[in-house]
Amino acid sequence: MTPIANDTFLRALLREHTPYTPLWLMRQAGRYLPEYNATRTRAGSFLGLAQNPDFATEVTLQPLDRFPLDAAILFSDILTVPDAMGLGLRFAAGEGPRFERPLRDEAAIEALRVPDLDRLRYVFDAVSQIRRALMQDGRQRVPLIGFSGSPWTLACYMVEGQGSDDWHRAKTLLYSRPDLMHRILAVNAEAVAAYLNAQIEAGAQAAMIFDSWGGTLADRAFQAFSLDYSRRVIALLKREHAGRRVPVILFTKGGGMWLDAMADSGADALGVDWTVNLGEARKRVGARVALQGNLDPAILFAPPHCIAEQARAVLDDFGPLRAGDRVGHVFNLGHGISQFTPPEHVAALVEAVHAHSRTLRS
Ligand code: CP3
Repeated sequence: MTPIANDTFLRALLREHTPYTPLWLMRQAGRYLPEYNATRTRAGSFLGLAQNPDFATEVTLQPLDRFPLDAAILFSDILTVPDAMGLGLRFAAGEGPRFERPLRDEAAIEALRVPDLDRLRYVFDAVSQIRRALMQDGRQRVPLIGFSGSPWTLACYMVEGQGSDDWHRAKTLLYSRPDLMHRILAVNAEAVAAYLNAQIEAGAQAAMIFDSWGGTLADRAFQAFSLDYSRRVIALLKREHAGRRVPVILFTKGGGMWLDAMADSGADALGVDWTVNLGEARKRVGARVALQGNLDPAILFAPPHCIAEQARAVLDDFGPLRAGDRVGHVFNLGHGISQFTPPEHVAALVEAVHAHSRTLRS
C-alpha cells in the first residue's frame, strides 16, 4: 500500500476524523492558471492536452504546486467516453464541445455499444503517470481522483450533439421514446462502470460521477433516467484496490431536493451545489454519506476578505465535527471554477478553509 502524506480527503469521504476540512476545486487545473494556458498552447488544443499523458500529468500537478490542495484530479473530460463510442468529439475554439455524429435516429441508438477500452488507453496511462508524479520522498503527496460523467449527463451531450440551455432534443427523446433513452442509458452505465474500474486499476483512489445535468430533470424523471443509472454504475464499481477502500462521490448539480434518495445510491459521498444549506443537508443524509461542496464559484471574484468570510460561513453551516461523529465534509465549489478567477483568490480560499475548519474540530 503506497503511503499517502496527506490522506485527509479520503478519510473525510469515509467519515473518519480529520484535523481540518480537506479541499479541492472542480476544474482546479484550468484556464484561470497562466501555466495551464502555456501548456495548452504547447499542446495545440484542449484535446491535444487531454489525450497526451505527459501534458495531462503536467497540468494535473500545476494547481498542487501553487496551493496546498488536499487532492489531485485526473485532467481529462467526461466526453472522452462518447468519443470512444465513435461520436467524434471536437472542441471548436471558444464554443465548447461538439459531436460530429450525435445520436439522431433509432438506428444510431441501436448501433451504440460499450467502447473498446483500448481507445481510452491514454486516460489510464495518464492516471498511472500522475500517480508516479505525485510521489515525493517515498510518499504520495495527496490522493488522486478519477471521474466520469453520469449516464444521463453523457446522454444529454450524445443526443444533443453539444451543450444546451434546455436539452430540448434529449428531453423530447426521453418523453416520446423512453425505450430509446433507456437503451442509451443502459449502454452508458455499463461503459461508465468499465471506464471507472479501469481508472481505479490504473491508480485512481476515489471516483467521482459528474451528473451535471440531472438537476434539469423533473421529479420522477430524475429517479428513472438519472439516479437509477448512477446507482447501477456504483453497484458495478470496484470498491477496494491496493489495500484501500475506493470512495465514490455522486454529484448532481441542482439535485438538492433529491439528497435523501441519493444518500441510498451506494455512494460514499454526495456533491452539492450552492443552492443547498450544508447543515440541513447533513441532517437529511445523517451518517449515510459524507458531503462535498458547496461555495458559489462566483464568490471567488470578490476580494480575499469576502472570500474568507463566505468560506467560513459554509464551514459554519456544516457545523462542528467531534471525533466519533461519523460525518465527513470535503470543501469544494458548487461547480467548476471560472476561467476569470484570479489565482491569488484561490490561495485566500485554501488558507481560510484550512484555518477556520481547525477551530470547528473537537
Ligand atoms: O476538475 C478538473 O480539474 C478535472 C478536469 C475536468 C475537465 N472537464 C477539464 C476541462 C473535469 C472533471 C471535466 C468534467 C466535465 N466536462 C463536465 C462535468 C463537470 C461540469 O462542469 O459540470 C462537463 C459537463 C464537461 C464537458 C465540457 N468540457 C464542457 C461543457 C466544456 C466547455 C466549457 C468550458 O469550460 O470551456 C469542456 C472543456 C473543458 N474540460 C475545459 C477543461 C479545463 C476547458 C477547455 C479549454 O482549456 O479550452
